[in-house]
Amino acid sequence: MRDELLDLTGALKDHILSEKESRSGISRLYLKGNLAMPSAIPVDTMPNNETIHVSSLTLEDIREELGDCTRCKLHGGRLNIVFGEGNTRADLVFVGEAPGRDEDRQGRPFVGRAGQLLTDIIKAMGLTRDEVYICNILKCRPPENRNPESDEIAACEPFLVKQLQSIQPRVICALGKFAAQTLLKTDTAISVLRGRFHSYHGIQLMPTYHPAYLLRNPGAKKQVWEDVQIIMKEIQKEP
Ligand code: URA
Repeated sequence: MRDELLDLTGALKDHILSEKESRSGISRLYLKGNLAMPSAIPVDTMPNNETIHVSSLTLEDIREELGDCTRCKLHGGRLNIVFGEGNTRADLVFVGEAPGRDEDRQGRPFVGRAGQLLTDIIKAMGLTRDEVYICNILKCRPPENRNPESDEIAACEPFLVKQLQSIQPRVICALGKFAAQTLLKTDTAISVLRGRFHSYHGIQLMPTYHPAYLLRNPGAKKQVWEDVQIIMKEIQKEP
């Protein structure tokens, strides 16, 4: 009961924030290639205090800055850094949680069983993996695929933010509870967050279930399909 009340309160807060923002028209000002990103975005309409800036850094620059990263304890157990891959100017970016065993071995995001399902979802949207960008909150595999820890997120998230600033997608799809809650800085359940856009610093963010969850709960594919249809409509709109 308490959890349900917390979820409802969180959802109401998120809804009020996104309503405020859509009335201010901010997200429509933040278009791909528009270097006149408004500098005075009201911070109180943002899920957190940092506004996203348009960056002239390329993904290669950011990869170079990341280097052979030792910023958190995960570096000790990894085989490869999984930076992300896809179209450097993608309209749509998928953000997952963290690399698993297959991703760690190959140095590529979403290449295991969950990755195959994500690839199928992307195809069903009429897109290919090369047309979108795919990355994770964390770039190194947590031991035994445990949940990311706050110090690891703190070390890694700035690089994800830079990637998003560089790509300037129109839509971000947050895959699973972890990605959605981390990006939106909320504890609201994914079942409550999914199904509608939220603002990630002025970018439309759609939370949906993680493909690994769908492997265990195929019944939830219907809701993911609803969510990706909303995304498709949005990216088909004239910018
Ligand atoms: N799960 C994730 O969240 N990310 C991957 O890259 C693979 C599986």
